[in-house]
Amino acid sequence: MQEIRAGLVGAGTVGGGVVKIFSKKGGYFNTELALPIRLVRIVDKDRGCFERLPVNDAVCSTDFNDILSDDTISIVIELVGGTTFAKKVVLDALNRKKHVITANKALIAEHGPEIFEAAQNNGVSVYFEASVGGGMPVIKSIREGLVGNAIKSVKTIINGTCNYILTRMFAEGLAFDDVLKEAQARGYAEADPTLDIGGGDTGHKVAILSSIIAGGYIPYEKIFCEGITSVSKDDIECAQELGYTIKLLGIIKQTDNHTVDARVHPVMLRTDHILASVSYEFNAVLLEGDSVGPVLLYGKGAGEMATASAVMSDVIDVARNIASGHPERIPMDYYRSQREIEILAVEEITGRYYVRFTVADQPGVLSDLTEQFCKQSISIASLVQREQHEDESVTVIILTHSSSERSIRAAIAEIEKADYVCKKTQVIRIED
Ligand code: HSE
Repeated sequence: MQEIRAGLVGAGTVGGGVVKIFSKKGGYFNTELALPIRLVRIVDKDRGCFERLPVNDAVCSTDFNDILSDDTISIVIELVGGTTFAKKVVLDALNRKKHVITANKALIAEHGPEIFEAAQNNGVSVYFEASVGGGMPVIKSIREGLVGNAIKSVKTIINGTCNYILTRMFAEGLAFDDVLKEAQARGYAEADPTLDIGGGDTGHKVAILSSIIAGGYIPYEKIFCEGITSVSKDDIECAQELGYTIKLLGIIKQTDNHTVDARVHPVMLRTDHILASVSYEFNAVLLEGDSVGPVLLYGKGAGEMATASAVMSDVIDVARNIASGHPERIPMDYYRSQREIEILAVEEITGRYYVRFTVADQPGVLSDLTEQFCKQSISIASLVQREQHEDESVTVIILTHSSSERSIRAAIAEIEKADYVCKKTQVIRIED
């Protein structure tokens, strides 16, 4: 069989991991998998990485055109990140009829249709397993292992930075900013950590997964994203007292009326929920298939070798496709579909809520709070008032029975008009 030659653009953390796996397992791919695949060129703007990595006989340079103009290369691995140069790399490679493998979630979530159209026009494919969940094979599981299922729901902890921060805040009572610095130092956080803590990174991943599940393109902009910056020490203490933990969850649910509920926000999870024990930088994806029932994937969602593992699985898939003469073995129709997928507005969701008020400690406050809930037909499951703060305000926590988000918002908007409210009210959705 003719050699299948790959070029790598970006030999940073994940790219470096890919170089290492090629070096370590190239012989195995050749002999055991009968795939004569070889990394023949590596491009990075930092020449220093070529000294540090086992590049073997790959030709190393700083110019992407060296890969583009090499007609013997049929697979381009894009690991530069961002959506500007990376997009150029991907589109140029596709237009030269090279298959593309990328870990770039922002690129797929924001420019998927353009990229997959270019792939189709050129008869080549785009694989992006590493864009969601790092080392966990979530996309492959949905597209292949679970193909006999309609995926009814996905609940996922898929941002290691947020999970690391929340875990340490819970376990050690640490302040948000201090833990964020540590997460950055450990390399979990994005270059711009606002994408992590603001929920955008999880939003990109939810946009990709929901597009695959719903069978049509769901742009990132349509995903409701709320991050973890408003989760306070108070919330953590209250959650602990009530038997809950707080996690940033990506949620996708296919509703009965063919809309998709796709959102990202902190949730209260009971401590015995299967996702509650997913700690530190670990990620998990809990899928519910209509045939299989629940399936849980758990693993490292980021980092050098975990993410490189997912990239290599794509490399092998593409190489197998090439070897079998079916480069588009698994079509990406959802990115080419004209079908409009309707997203459920967050005001339309229903569920249970944790609402934390900081209010003046004076007669009539509790009765007004409960009256406003009553006016919106919200049933209260439990109510706790904690001891006075130094400024004589008190924390009142209400857990509701199932209510609509619209009603919760209406009640809080009315309550926040009152003089007795001392601080912005905190709302965290409860996921059972
Ligand atoms: N910044 C991401 C995280 C890693 O913290 O999980 C890559 O998606």
